[in-house]
Amino acid sequence: MKITFYGHASLGIQIDDINILVDPFITGNEKASHIDINRLKADYIMVTHAHQDHILDVEAIAKRTGAVIISNFEIVTHFNNLGLEGHPMNHGGQWDFEFGNVKYVNAIHTSSFPDGTYGGQPGGFIIESEHKNIYIAGDTALTFDMKLIPLQTKLDLAILPIGDNFTMGINDAILASDFVECDKILGCHFDTFGYIEIDHEVAKRKFFEKDKDLMLLEIGESIEL
Ligand code: NI
Ligand code: MN
Repeated sequence: MKITFYGHASLGIQIDDINILVDPFITGNEKASHIDINRLKADYIMVTHAHQDHILDVEAIAKRTGAVIISNFEIVTHFNNLGLEGHPMNHGGQWDFEFGNVKYVNAIHTSSFPDGTYGGQPGGFIIESEHKNIYIAGDTALTFDMKLIPLQTKLDLAILPIGDNFTMGINDAILASDFVECDKILGCHFDTFGYIEIDHEVAKRKFFEKDKDLMLLEIGESIEL
């Protein structure tokens, strides 16, 4: 499993020859101007919630690639109405896709579309594949619901928002990694705009002091699991 950071909460996940994009927000992110969305491969696009900083490039990429959009029922219906293909889910549900099993889990946040219409409830995803299990928290506060995850899944990586103000900050993300019982963390949702700028060294040190590894990737950088 190869995971590429495309800035903000945008990720590419490659599992065998299947390419998954998560929350593509690239053309709206000045810091990601070197990423060309017309070159990104996508068989699936997973969307955690309807906010602009998570869906901006979904339509363009799905139109070009024919990617199947995996999200909550309301978001998938929205994109179905634009002529795009999707697989609707809702909290607590899981499904076997060709690349692995996906569960849509709780997140504490909001989920309106940019025009203010209802975007369902926000969520996160657990992906189990290739004997690797990852948690994509989406935008969320720290929540006790995270403690449900390790009852069923031994995680290899937790992808957590750490930018504070709109989501968990560093201290709550450290507690979240305790709740999900995973000490390997990929940080996201930081530095994109003023409210969520963080000090990278302080963030890494705080995780390190709790025997945890916080990875902060450059935009376009990848890790192998
Ligand atoms: Ni959001
Ligand atoms: Mn967001």
